[in-house]
Amino acid sequence: MKITHTDGPPKDLLYFDEEMDLQQKDVEDVAEIFKTPLTGSYNWDYTVSDNRIKRLYELGKELNWNGSLDLNWDYTHPADEKLVEADEDLPHETLEAYVNLTEEEKIEFDRHDTAELLSQFLHGEQGALLVASQLVSCAPTYNAKLYAASQTFDEARHVEVFNRYLQEKIGVHYPINPNLKALLDKILTDERWDLKFIGMQIIIEGLALAAFQMLKMLTKDPLLKQLLHYVVRDEARHVTFGINYLEDFIKTLTPEEIEERAEFAYEACVISRERLINTTAMQKYLKMSEEEAREFSLSTSANATFRNFLFSRVIPNLSRIGLLTDSVRPKFEALGLLEYENAPDDFEVDWVELEKPLEDFDKIPTAV
Ligand SMILES: [Fe+2]
Ligand SMILES: [Fe+2]
Repeated sequence: MKITHTDGPPKDLLYFDEEMDLQQKDVEDVAEIFKTPLTGSYNWDYTVSDNRIKRLYELGKELNWNGSLDLNWDYTHPADEKLVEADEDLPHETLEAYVNLTEEEKIEFDRHDTAELLSQFLHGEQGALLVASQLVSCAPTYNAKLYAASQTFDEARHVEVFNRYLQEKIGVHYPINPNLKALLDKILTDERWDLKFIGMQIIIEGLALAAFQMLKMLTKDPLLKQLLHYVVRDEARHVTFGINYLEDFIKTLTPEEIEERAEFAYEACVISRERLINTTAMQKYLKMSEEEAREFSLSTSANATFRNFLFSRVIPNLSRIGLLTDSVRPKFEALGLLEYENAPDDFEVDWVELEKPLEDFDKIPTAV
């Protein structure tokens, strides 16, 4: 075993060679240390209250899937077809720099653009894995500890399958977006367990759920579609768990404590908006500077709609758990996000949807 410690995440792309036959001695783990003043709790009352949290935990056990066996890894998307294709032009497809690329270059851009996005999913899933494991210690109630343990295993599978897809089917990892890293640092190192909970279960997972659903709809690769579909089904349970648990808990806090949480949630949303802008592949293939790519990303209405669509899964949930307080509402308004306040939240559980058996490779529904 070889472990190398670094001060931060890698900044460069990491390539994987198909023919690579790694021996244990060749594997080098790159670790970045973080310290966390974790306030844990035992639970000495093992009473099981028969509520939604218990039911979600039961469901988590029942719908466990195996990332190695249940996904059709035998499938590889044809090398001359794009992984992501919409019915209409995607914003970058209207750019002259893109139009002028050869077909081969367009495919290469598609692979890299998708890898950049999937790499953020991968790094986010690692964050979720670390936070979920902290929640096992921190959560104050028995049901929540068991649930967090089952979520920890879900997140391990998510890391496993995104990593495997990127390594085997595309062959490259992109480094973590600095804003996503900053948000994970904040959540992982805060000692207040409910802030971890709000940051992870409501904001990061809410956004991820919407982003996964969007990519699932757009991808032409049936393996990637299946992978995302299975992950989405787990994430839907995680978000529902977060809202159901936090709604009760937040009512136990003082008004000052609630304000603190509301401000934290707002700041996490601001950082999250930034982390949705990923431009490395665009800079390389469409020959743009970082600033140009960023401006382009912010300027198109399709991208704005996409970013806002993601928040339509988060804002109603913040409202539901009582964190859209009078003092943060104007700030959300200024971001243009308050209009989602009354969109459907994820509190009410669609048990029929959550409980249905996992679909096979060729029966994955496309609609969100
Ligand atoms: Fe996950
Ligand atoms: Fe999750």
